[in-house]
Amino acid sequence: MERLQKVIASRGYTSRRKAEELILARKVYVNGKQVTELGVKVDNNAEIRIDNEYLQKEDKEYYVLNKPRGVISSVSDERGRKTVVDLIATNARIYPIGRLDYDTTGIILLTNDGAFANKLMHPSFKIEKTYLAKLNKIFTLDDFYKLKKGIEIDNREVKINRLKIKSKDIEKNTSLVEISIFEGRNHIIKRIFLKLGYDVVKLKRLSYGFLSLGKLKSGEYRKLSKEEIKEFLNTNKKAT
Ligand code: URA
Repeated sequence: MERLQKVIASRGYTSRRKAEELILARKVYVNGKQVTELGVKVDNNAEIRIDNEYLQKEDKEYYVLNKPRGVISSVSDERGRKTVVDLIATNARIYPIGRLDYDTTGIILLTNDGAFANKLMHPSFKIEKTYLAKLNKIFTLDDFYKLKKGIEIDNREVKINRLKIKSKDIEKNTSLVEISIFEGRNHIIKRIFLKLGYDVVKLKRLSYGFLSLGKLKSGEYRKLSKEEIKEFLNTNKKAT
């Protein structure tokens, strides 16, 4: 059961706030009965009519995308930049689960299933994310061991689940480091390395939980399978 205004918004008819206005204006009917006050909860599959229009139920869609650089992780952008949603051919009102920076590439999930997205984004949901970071210097062994122990960002510890130096380019003075963490604070990987004195010059998310990019090339996407959706929901059960 969900609040009526939320169900109306999820069917793409209007925003939650406008839906509230329509309810108070006595224009909304649920399973044939007029609803006149806020706070009513309804089944997600309820038949909803506003004036004379029946609201279509939107099927749930789930995608995994290999996000290219120069694309923003939101539904729309006031500066007119391309968004991850623009890359997916669907009329469903999908949005990204979490975000990757404009210049970060790699795996990102999108859906129109609010309950699924909220679950995956909840801090108690332990999804491991693995990133490949290119640093502007040689990553020292001292810093490797320092970072392995964990690091504080804004007075909160970030647990580093896995850390691996993939390569060092002495000539170009760069290194490639693979790092896995559970949390999803904004710019977290760049901030971790910055705290140790490194700039992340390239960042790619290689995997999100059990899911990796597989054969998806930059800009390509596919639907999640039913099994993958189930497995994400089970991840939570295993972690709690
Ligand atoms: N950490 C970052 O710094 N940027 C991202 O896009 C994702 C994680």
